[in-house]
Amino acid sequence: MTGMDRPRRLRRTPALRRLVAETTLQPRQLILPMFVADGLAEPREISSMPGVQQHSMDSLRKAAVEAVAAGVGGLMLFGVPKAEDKDPLGSQASDPEGILNRGLRALAHEVGDSTVVMADTCLDEFTSHGHCGVLSPEGAVDNDATLQRYVDMALAQAETGADLLGTSGMMDGQVGAIRAGLDAAGYTDTGILAYAAKYASAFYGPFREAVGSSLEGDRRTYQQDPANRREAVRELELDLAEGADIVMVKPAMSYLDILRDVADRSTVPVAAYQISGEYAMITAAAQNGWIDRRGAILESLLGIRRAGADMVLTYWATEAAHWLS
Ligand code: PBG
Repeated sequence: MTGMDRPRRLRRTPALRRLVAETTLQPRQLILPMFVADGLAEPREISSMPGVQQHSMDSLRKAAVEAVAAGVGGLMLFGVPKAEDKDPLGSQASDPEGILNRGLRALAHEVGDSTVVMADTCLDEFTSHGHCGVLSPEGAVDNDATLQRYVDMALAQAETGADLLGTSGMMDGQVGAIRAGLDAAGYTDTGILAYAAKYASAFYGPFREAVGSSLEGDRRTYQQDPANRREAVRELELDLAEGADIVMVKPAMSYLDILRDVADRSTVPVAAYQISGEYAMITAAAQNGWIDRRGAILESLLGIRRAGADMVLTYWATEAAHWLS
């Protein structure tokens, strides 16, 4: 070689940079999480997530059509029941007329032919105590008693026409139990998007406002300890063995090392969830004029893709899809 090595040569023009870019960001790789609330006539802004709403049934349909027109790859729906409809078992989760199941039917009907409709399969929005499972007499989250509730919930969701069920509760054996329940009922084509590695994160704060969570205390007996990396591989292997069709890492930004570990080992597609606190941080900093909003959003999404996510759940899915197309 004569002279010094010059990596800058390939950064000189936009065309050169485009030619050598290793990571892509495309609308189809983005999934929009959405909230539908029972009894709302108009959408309601979530104060800790400016720009994100709890939807009415009407505004849900409209926002879904808009997202699909923008080219997003899928929609993930969460339900927000009325406070008086919550109970210790989260009964509304498995009620075909519960808000989440009505919302899923609306989405399947409205956009089900042109996108992937996903359901959050977890009890926490529906339980009066806010936990992701049912409680034992001593007040602990009872893993095995919860599994039957998840199966009931999954069957009600499969019936709506949802394509994928997002198992976000972090109970041991949940993927296997739900897979077996779906298959036994003939729902062999309903897939499972398994939250394989889900950490007990402080960054879920705004989400808990978004769904009107009743939780007191924390989820540290079932969600993973942020200190642990190896454990995520164990969770991944269990979910794969139990029949996960897609696996997810959550949150994204503080767990990019975990995402890389999972992406390197997974035999199925990998998703990552850019969660509410990540959305809130970038939004707040941008509102203060401290960072460039669009640049920060796209860089955060690209970073998650580069770490190994095939697809990213992000509250910016529709807006980012517009920018990208
Ligand atoms: C719980 C659930 C959580 C999120 C989605 N489903 C976290 C929690 O409350 O522990 C978080 C999503 C977000 O923060 O954007 N089943």
